[in-house]
Amino acid sequence: MRKLYEGKAKIVYETEDPNKVILFFKDTASAFDGVKKAEIKGKGELNNTISSILFEVLEKRGVKTHYIRKLSEREMLVWRAERFPVEVVVRNVATGSIVKRLGIKEGTKFKRPLLEFFMKDDKLHDPMVCEEHITLLGLAPEDAIPLMKETALKVNEVLREVFSKGGIILVDFKLEFGRLPDGSVAVVDEITPDTMRLWDEKTGEKLDKDRFRFDLGDLLEGYKRVLDSLRGS
Ligand code: TMP
Ligand code: ASP
Repeated sequence: MRKLYEGKAKIVYETEDPNKVILFFKDTASAFDGVKKAEIKGKGELNNTISSILFEVLEKRGVKTHYIRKLSEREMLVWRAERFPVEVVVRNVATGSIVKRLGIKEGTKFKRPLLEFFMKDDKLHDPMVCEEHITLLGLAPEDAIPLMKETALKVNEVLREVFSKGGIILVDFKLEFGRLPDGSVAVVDEITPDTMRLWDEKTGEKLDKDRFRFDLGDLLEGYKRVLDSLRGS
């Protein structure tokens, strides 16, 4: 299979069908735009499984995604997409970059979900952008913006409910969008503890990639707890 693209956490391979590609989940953990990196054996498999479950849940709830099916422990078959270089972040609780950027107290609960856009560009450290930037710099089609916002908020509702059943708080997450071969705009990339913040409801323990970012504990242990909480979803 020909490699189309290799990112920090995944490799994209082409298939015989020009409209479909394979996502291969690597064991690499990366943080702070690749400044901190490590190989964590088993991470790829956990992320592929978690992302597959979440895409299936979302599809069942009417959210359009690029997901077709899980192919193997580390591989997922997806529709080929023209990805928009935009990251859509939804926050329920303040932590991470917003705490530093705006001086908000860590742990502050927002009275409704807060949605932000970032431009996907490691060299520029993914700067925050507004809707006008997205439109006028041509980062995504103008008519896709309301859809991205509406979809991200719907995903938040669905995932909050799913995780809350397993005793986990969905603090924040990042989504990417793209255009599929049928012309529709859909959620692409992955939805994993690399791209979400998940806190244990009772203890506040962080179960996501912040464990790796800030050396809080074994990454796999957190990701396994996330996966266990999803069994039956
Ligand atoms: P932030 O607080 O660092 O802006 O992160 C917000 C959310 O986005 C958090 O759940 C982690 C996720 N995220 C990514 O998926 N990729 C990234 O490159 C960054 C910086 C954050
Ligand atoms: N995903 C980014 C990186 O790999 C940043 C992060 O998640 O902290 O460097």
